[in-house]
Amino acid sequence: MNHAFPAGFLWGAATAAHQIEGGNDNCDTWAEEWAEGSPYADKSGDAIAHYRLFRDDIALLASLGLKAYRFSIEWARVEPREGEFNPEALAHYRAVVDACVEHGLEPLVTLHHFTSPKWLMALGGWKGERTPQLFARYVERVMPALGPAVKRVVTLNECNIGVLLQSMFASLGFVPPIGVDVKSWRAPGWRESAAKACGTDVATYCAFQMAGDERGVATISASHVAAREVIRRVAPGVQVGLSLALSQPHVAPGGEQQAAKMWHGNFRQWLPAIQGDDFFGLQNYTREIYGPEGQIASPEGAETTGMRYEFAPQAVASVARRVAHELKLPILISENGYCGDDDARRVDFIGQALAGLHAAIADGVPIIGYAYWTAFDNFEWVFGYQPRFGLIAVDRSTQQRAPKPSAHFLGDIARHNALPDGVTTHPQPGSSQDLAMDHRYIPPMPEPGVVFTNVRIFDGSGSPPFAAELRVDGRRITAIGNSVSHGNARVIDGRGGMLMPGLTEAHAHLTWPTSVEKFVPGMSLPPEELTLTAARNARILLDHGFTSAYSAGALGKRIEPALKDMIDSGGMPGPRLIASSVEREPPMEGTLLDPGKVDEHGAGPANVAAFVKGCKDIGAKAVKFLISGESALKPGASLELLYTEEELMAAGAAAREHDLWLTGHAHAAEAVKLGLKAGFRVLYHCTYADEEALDMLEAARDTVFVAPSIGIVQATLDATPPPHFDMTHMKQDAAIVLETQKKLVPELRRRGVRLLPGGDYGFPFNPNGRNARDLELWVQHFGYTPAEALHAATALGGQIMGMGDELGQLKEGFLADLLLVDGDPTENVAILQNKHHLKAIMKDGRFHKSPN
Ligand code: BGC
Repeated sequence: MNHAFPAGFLWGAATAAHQIEGGNDNCDTWAEEWAEGSPYADKSGDAIAHYRLFRDDIALLASLGLKAYRFSIEWARVEPREGEFNPEALAHYRAVVDACVEHGLEPLVTLHHFTSPKWLMALGGWKGERTPQLFARYVERVMPALGPAVKRVVTLNECNIGVLLQSMFASLGFVPPIGVDVKSWRAPGWRESAAKACGTDVATYCAFQMAGDERGVATISASHVAAREVIRRVAPGVQVGLSLALSQPHVAPGGEQQAAKMWHGNFRQWLPAIQGDDFFGLQNYTREIYGPEGQIASPEGAETTGMRYEFAPQAVASVARRVAHELKLPILISENGYCGDDDARRVDFIGQALAGLHAAIADGVPIIGYAYWTAFDNFEWVFGYQPRFGLIAVDRSTQQRAPKPSAHFLGDIARHNALPDGVTTHPQPGSSQDLAMDHRYIPPMPEPGVVFTNVRIFDGSGSPPFAAELRVDGRRITAIGNSVSHGNARVIDGRGGMLMPGLTEAHAHLTWPTSVEKFVPGMSLPPEELTLTAARNARILLDHGFTSAYSAGALGKRIEPALKDMIDSGGMPGPRLIASSVEREPPMEGTLLDPGKVDEHGAGPANVAAFVKGCKDIGAKAVKFLISGESALKPGASLELLYTEEELMAAGAAAREHDLWLTGHAHAAEAVKLGLKAGFRVLYHCTYADEEALDMLEAARDTVFVAPSIGIVQATLDATPPPHFDMTHMKQDAAIVLETQKKLVPELRRRGVRLLPGGDYGFPFNPNGRNARDLELWVQHFGYTPAEALHAATALGGQIMGMGDELGQLKEGFLADLLLVDGDPTENVAILQNKHHLKAIMKDGRFHKSPN
C-alpha cells in the first residue's frame, strides 16, 4: 500500500483565540463566563497565555514537524469599540503570521471563531441588520494588516453551530449552556446578566452560537459573502472559505428523512453562501445515527469520548466523501480531534481518521489538508478546562507545555507526508450495512427551483443590465450567470425581457381609499370597508410590481399590523410591509384630512412617549408624526410645527427603547431639523430645508432616508376636479412645491442622502396602483436617468425596509423579489406604469403573477 499523501498536503493543528490567548475580556463569551449564575464550568481567565507565548508555541509546533498552524483573529481585540481599530492588536496578529513564516508553518487564518465584540451584541449580534457590513469592515482592516504570507482564510468558524445546537438541545429536551431558541435563551437570569454586561438586553443579544434560525443563518451567510467580497478586493489571490461542523449522518432503518433534514440544516442550506468560495472547511468529531423519529443513541457498548459522543474516527472520511459529492471544491479538514486523557486513543483516532482520508483521496476526493483540533489543551467553552483535546498538555499554573505522544505521531506523519505502516481504518461499530448505507443515502428531492433564461438583468445596484440566467431556490436567488444549473427547476423563457428587483413604495398609504380599481370620493369609509380596502390596496400594489411598501401612516390603529400579519402568513397577497399605526384620526364624512389634528395621543412629552409605546404594543414598526402641517390641505400649514422639541425628543427616546422607527412629515426647515435631532429614520418632503437642514441631512445620510413624495404634487397639478371641488389653492401650493423640489432633490442627492420614490398615492386624484409613476417623475423633474430612479426604488428600497443585505437587488443569496418586464425600463421607465408589461411578479421566491 502506498501511504503517501499528495505533495503539499497541509499538516497542521488548530486553535481559536478565546480558547488559548487569555484576558479576552471585551467579548461576549467573557461576559457569559462572568454572568451571574453562569453555567460555564470555568472562566477562561489567562487561558494558556498564548497571546504572550505565541512565539514559543509556534516554534514548538514547527519542531514537531507540522507544516501549518490554524489560528483565529479576535475581533473584540482588533475593534474594541465600533469603528475603532486597535493598531497594537493588528500588529500582534501580524507578528503571529510572521512567526509562522519564520518557522516554516503556513498560517491558516480564521477571522471569526465564535466570540464577538460585546458592542456587536448591542446591535443585535448575529441577527443584527448591520452585522454583515460590520464584519466586512473588520475584515477589510484585518486582511491588509496580516500581510502577504496569508494564503488561505476561513471567514467564520462553524457557521452552523447555532443550527447544530438548536436541534441538539431541542432533541435532548434541556436548556443548553449556550444559546438555543429565544425561549430557552430567555429563561435563566444569567443570560440577562451577560446581555447587560454587553450593554444590551436578552431580546437583542444574539451570540454566534445562538444564530440558528432563518434570520441567523441569513445574517451569517451574508456576513461570509460580504467578507469574501472584501477579501477579493483588498487581498486578491487569497483563498477564502467558511467552515461547517458536520457529523456523519448515519442512517438507521427508516431514518432517511431525519438524516436528510439534519444534512440540509447543517450543510445544504449553506450552499448558496459557499458558491464562489475557493475551498471548504470541514470539521468533524463524530457520527450521529438517525432513526424515523430523529437522532438515536449509538449502538450499545459503543466507546464514547470525553465529550460523551461516539468515538468515530471513520466519520471524517465519510463526511468528506459526501461533501465532495455535492460540492466541487477542495476540502480542508479544518478540525478533527479526540477528547480524552488516554493519549493512546488519540493516536488511534488520528491514525484511523487519516487512513480513511487517505483512501478517500485515492478515490478522488480533493482533500488538501488536515488541521487536528487542537494544538494545546485549552478552554473548551462552557465545559471549561476539564475536557482535553490537545496534542500538547499545558500546566496552567506554570504555563509549561508538554507534547504528548500523539503530537509526535502527527508530527512524524507530517514530516514524511505519509502514514506509517500498519495504520488502517477500522469498520464502524454497528451492523455491517451501516457504512454501505452511507453511500445509498439519498437526500429528499428539494423543491423545484425556477430558472429564468433569455433575460437581461438589471440587478438594482446601478450597474448596466447584462445578459445572464438567474436561478431561484426556495425564497432566495441561488445563482446568476451564464451556466446556471437547470436541474430540478422550472425553466422560464423570458423572451428577451428584463429581470429586475421588485419595487419599493417608500410612502405608502394602504388605507387611503382610492385605487386604480375603485374611485372613492373623499377619504372616509366605515371601518369594515376601510379594512378591506387596505387589503385590496395591498394586493394592487403587488399587482403593479411593488413587492415592498414602507407605510407613511394609516387611518386606523391596528389595520396595518393586522394586514402585515395576514400577508406574511400567506393569508392574502400584498407587499412586504413596514406597518405603521394611526397617522391621525380618520376624517368625518364629507371632510378632508385635517392636517392639524394631532391630538389623538394628547400633548406633552409623556403622552407622546406613551403613544409611541402604544404603537409597539399593537405591533407597528413605524410611527408616523406630522412634524409640520400640510399647506395643500390648509394654507400655510407646511411652515407650522405641530410638535415641540421636547415632545419629539421624547418620541425619539421611546422609539429607541422599543425598537421602533420614526417617520416624519416635514416640510418646514425646522421640522426637518427637529426630526433629525430626535432620530427620525424617514423624513418625507423636506421641501423648505434651508442650508442648515441640508447640512444636517448630509451628516445623517447613513441613518436617514428621504422620500420627497412628488407623485401627489404632480397629481394635484394634473387633476381636473368636478365643479363643486375647488382645488385652486392646492394647485398653487403644488406648483411651489414642485419648483422647490426640483432644486432640492438634486442637491440632496449630490450630498449623498438616500432618496426614494414614493408618492402619497390613495387620494381620489392620485390612486393607489399608480405608484410607478413616481419613477417617471424623477426622470422628468429631478435629473435622474431611468436606471438611477430604478436603483432608488430597488436597492435603496431594500435598505429602507431594513433588509439592505438581502433585499432590493438581484444577487446570489438575496431574497427572490423580482419582476420580469417585457421591455426595457432602463430605456423607458414609464413602461412600468402599465401592469401588463409585468410578465412575472415574484415575492419571496413565490410567483404572485406567473408567466404564461
Ligand atoms: C470548535 C472548537 C471546539 C471544538 C471541540 C469545534 O466545534 O470549533 O472551538 O473547541 O469543536 O468541541
